[in-house]
Amino acid sequence: MSKIKIAVVVGSNRRESINRKLASALARLGSDQFDIKIAEIGDLPLYNPDLEENLPAEVKRFKSEIEAADGVLFVTPEYNRSIPAVLKSAVDWGARPWGKNSWAGKPAAITGTSPGAIGAAIAQQHLRQVLAILGVHVMGGEAYITFKPDLVGADGTIADESVRGFLKAYLDQFAAFAPRFESAQKAAA
Ligand code: FNR
Repeated sequence: MSKIKIAVVVGSNRRESINRKLASALARLGSDQFDIKIAEIGDLPLYNPDLEENLPAEVKRFKSEIEAADGVLFVTPEYNRSIPAVLKSAVDWGARPWGKNSWAGKPAAITGTSPGAIGAAIAQQHLRQVLAILGVHVMGGEAYITFKPDLVGADGTIADESVRGFLKAYLDQFAAFAPRFESAQKAAA
C-alpha cells in the first residue's frame, strides 16, 4: 500500500527549534506509514493582502505543498499562550487569496512541545480553533509534549520510551483518520 503523504508545518522559524526536532523525530517514527515532508514557513513573507495581487513564489510553493499532501501535521510552540505569529501568518497565506483556500478539506493532527509543564497545550487549542474555520478536519485527541533535553536522542529518535509509545499511537490514529477524507479532497479539487 502506498504511504500517506503528510506535509508537516513547524510553527517556529528558530534555527535550533525544539519543535523542528520533534517534527523530524516524528517523521522517523511514522516512516512505515507516512511519507512526511516539512512544508517550510521560515521564508514566507508576513501576510499582507497587498501581496496577493502578485503572489510571492515562496507562498505559491507553500500552498502547492499543502495542496499536494493527503494530510497536514502541525508541530507548534506556544508563544504567550497562543500560536507564534510566524505560524498564524503561514496559516493565513494558506487560506488566501479568497476562494483559493489550500487547507479546505484537509485532515490534520496537532502536536507541539515546550519546556513548560503543559507542553504548548494552549497554543494547540488556539490552532484547533483557527483551523476549524478554514474547513480543516482536525483529529481528536491531544499530544502536549513537555520538552526535556533528552527527549530526542543524538540519533534523532524519541529517546523516552513512554513518550515514543504515546506518539506512535497518536501517529497510528492519524494514519487511520487521514484516509477517510481522501475522496472528499478529490471531489473538491
Ligand atoms: C515563549 N515560550 C513559551 N512557552 C510556553 O510554554 N508558553 C508560552 O506562552 C511561551 N511564551 C513564549 C513567548 C516567546 C516570545 C518566546 C520566545 C518563548 C518558551 C518556548 O516554549 C521556547 O522558547 C521554545 O523553545 C519555543 O519553541 P521552538 O522555537 O524552540 O520550537
